[in-house]
Amino acid sequence: MKFSTSLTLPLLASTCSAAAVRRQNGDGPQGGTDATQGDLSGRPPPRFPFPILEFPVAKETVVLNATMYIQPGEIFDGQMKRYERVEGSCNEQAEGTDADAVFNLLPGSTIRNVIIGKHQSEGIHALGDAWVENVWWEDVCEDALTSKGLNTQLRVIGGGARNAQDKIFQDNSLGGKYNITGFVADTFGTFYQSCGNCLNQAKRNATIQNVVAINGTRMGIINPNFGDEIRIKDAQIKDIKFMVDKEIGNNVQTVPYTVGTGPDEKYALYNMTRDRITTFNGTVLSQYVPEDPYSWLGEFWPSLRNKTA
Ligand SMILES: *[C@@H]1O[C@H](CO)[C@@H](O)[C@H](O)[C@H]1NC(C)=O
Ligand SMILES: *[C@@H]1O[C@H](CO)[C@@H](O)[C@H](O)[C@H]1NC(C)=O
Ligand SMILES: *[C@@H]1O[C@H](CO)[C@@H](O)[C@H](O)[C@H]1NC(C)=O
Ligand SMILES: *[C@@H]1O[C@H](CO)[C@@H](O)[C@H](O)[C@H]1NC(C)=O
Ligand SMILES: *[C@@H]1O[C@H](CO)[C@@H](O)[C@H](O)[C@H]1NC(C)=O
Ligand SMILES: *[C@@H]1O[C@H](CO)[C@@H](O)[C@H](O)[C@H]1NC(C)=O
Repeated sequence: MKFSTSLTLPLLASTCSAAAVRRQNGDGPQGGTDATQGDLSGRPPPRFPFPILEFPVAKETVVLNATMYIQPGEIFDGQMKRYERVEGSCNEQAEGTDADAVFNLLPGSTIRNVIIGKHQSEGIHALGDAWVENVWWEDVCEDALTSKGLNTQLRVIGGGARNAQDKIFQDNSLGGKYNITGFVADTFGTFYQSCGNCLNQAKRNATIQNVVAINGTRMGIINPNFGDEIRIKDAQIKDIKFMVDKEIGNNVQTVPYTVGTGPDEKYALYNMTRDRITTFNGTVLSQYVPEDPYSWLGEFWPSLRNKTA
């Protein structure tokens, strides 16, 4: 396992000194509300064109004995290895804690080039601002990536998830932002969910672009009563039952109720025509192309090897 700790970027350095390297204690499903935040603008650019339809093939599996914490300012490069917990199991009935996750991202961290193995009850928890780049979930149990903390901003670039019976991206943050670019989702319940019954509720903001989403129940669930906004554009979808469901969320942990579905120019901010949301026909039409791709990544996609070298 290789760690690369990069504190050389000026913005990251200031992030670190400001960041109070604080693990949230007693952090249940709602997440704490006190994570100190970093600045996403100082991060390195993404390194591979996305979305890639085909799942990568891991050459090695790393079995973790405990949750791995990615530290503020750290760029953890998983080298396309598969990561799983030694005691990993999937219990969809129980909402997992941070200690159940394979990775916890502390504010100001980056995780990239990771494959999360099957049967992991929780994938990644972001306890503050983080980049999640080229991360693949082979078989999602409860949630793939959960955002927690105060005003947490997440950037997801590339990667994909399969078989998420429930949700892929869960936002339990207090007033956070979730930005998902170039992701592939195949077979899922909900692509993005703003928590409907967390103890701490505030306006959340999701932007989703250049994604391919196939065989799911819905792209989003938001709480208009808390002012949530979701934007979806340049997306290719197929066999999705609903785009965005709107619920009256609460902060008393009762089941929220649905009040509508579809675009409204205030909360559910998408328009199939204007925002180029099309039916996926097998070809990626709108790819997010970073400036400086890693050519070595090609070896994890055997069929793309010659095209990406
Ligand atoms: C996990 O624990 C086992 C047994 O205690 C040890 O052999 C192994 O090296 C540990 N793995 C990691 C990744 O720490
Ligand atoms: C979302 O992330 C993409 C990729 O990094 C970036 O190009 C885009 O500007 C971001 N959008 C917002 C609203 O932050
Ligand atoms: C589509 O999703 C359902 C679950 O909602 C699953 O049972 C089925 O196998 C999926 N179909 C394909 C072709 O993956
Ligand atoms: C939500 O994010 C979008 C894209 O960054 C931005 O244009 C919009 O102003 C944000 N809304 C709020 C309420 O912050
Ligand atoms: C979506 O945008 C198109 C083109 O701009 C417009 O004609 C149409 O009325 C819009 N649809 C909705 C539901 O707003
Ligand atoms: C999908 O649609 C695009 C745009 O219309 C077209 O260029 C492409 O050839 C189509 N792909 C397939 C496999 O039909």
